[in-house]
Amino acid sequence: MTSLISITIPQELITALHEAKHVLVFTGAGVSAESGISTFRDPLTGLWERFDPEDLATANGFRQDKALVWGWYEWRRMKVLKARPNPAHRAIAELAQHVPRLTVVTQNVDDLHERAGSTDVLHLHGSLHSPRCFACARPFSFPPGIPDEPEGGRRLCPPQCSHCGGDIRPGVVWFGENLPEDTLKQAFAAARECDLLFAIGTSGIVQPAARIPSLAKKAGAKLVQVNPQGTPLDYECTWSLRGGAGKIMPSLVQMAFLWS
Ligand code: APR
Repeated sequence: MTSLISITIPQELITALHEAKHVLVFTGAGVSAESGISTFRDPLTGLWERFDPEDLATANGFRQDKALVWGWYEWRRMKVLKARPNPAHRAIAELAQHVPRLTVVTQNVDDLHERAGSTDVLHLHGSLHSPRCFACARPFSFPPGIPDEPEGGRRLCPPQCSHCGGDIRPGVVWFGENLPEDTLKQAFAAARECDLLFAIGTSGIVQPAARIPSLAKKAGAKLVQVNPQGTPLDYECTWSLRGGAGKIMPSLVQMAFLWS
């Protein structure tokens, strides 16, 4: 069990957890940071501090240089396959055992929530594990095993679609693309129905995902932010817990439900 930090968890938050009918856990890259997966916007370490999202995370970037883009995502997929869920992922999965209903809505394209035991996770930005054909959209299955890629990736030609011969693209949502409609609808519905929302490890600036906390607040839910840094959510939250999710979430679940 993670060594519990002496963070002060407000008693009102514990009470709110005990009384909650539907908890929504909304996560961003920060929840996977303690698993060694880079965030996007953290100074120096964030992916968008080191790489150009225009070249790597747009359909046009893929058209321009598909080998650069494919190789970069194969590097990220390798990192995720080698990573392990951290105590925050496990605490979120555990929390679902103690409340009547819990929905995990994530912006992350890794599968660490699922590997920690969370079910029915709503992936707003797709997944690194579900590539498809850029032309006919048919799904593609990766060969078994973990790719072996250099730091930052290398140029790697994407595989071809066995049906139409088109290029296979990563299964993530790129800038300028629509989010999966049904998933977004379910996420917005959960936001309107929940009575307690946790925003964990997100800068809360990328739309339309960033609407989720304010939708929940408008519908009367209480908001909890878990983040070592301040974000625009500071002004919307009922409680803002400053620190790493891998420390705070286990402490919270332990304090609220004597999880050990
Ligand atoms: N615990 C909790 N939060 C953390 C931790 C940690 N250990 N480490 C960093 N953070 C916080 C940072 O302070 C930051 O506010 O996580 C946040 C990560 O923010 P971003 O890098 O902007 O990631 P995210 O909010 O998920 O980005 C949204 O943008 O680039 C696109 O599609 C991509 O899904 C992504 C979307």
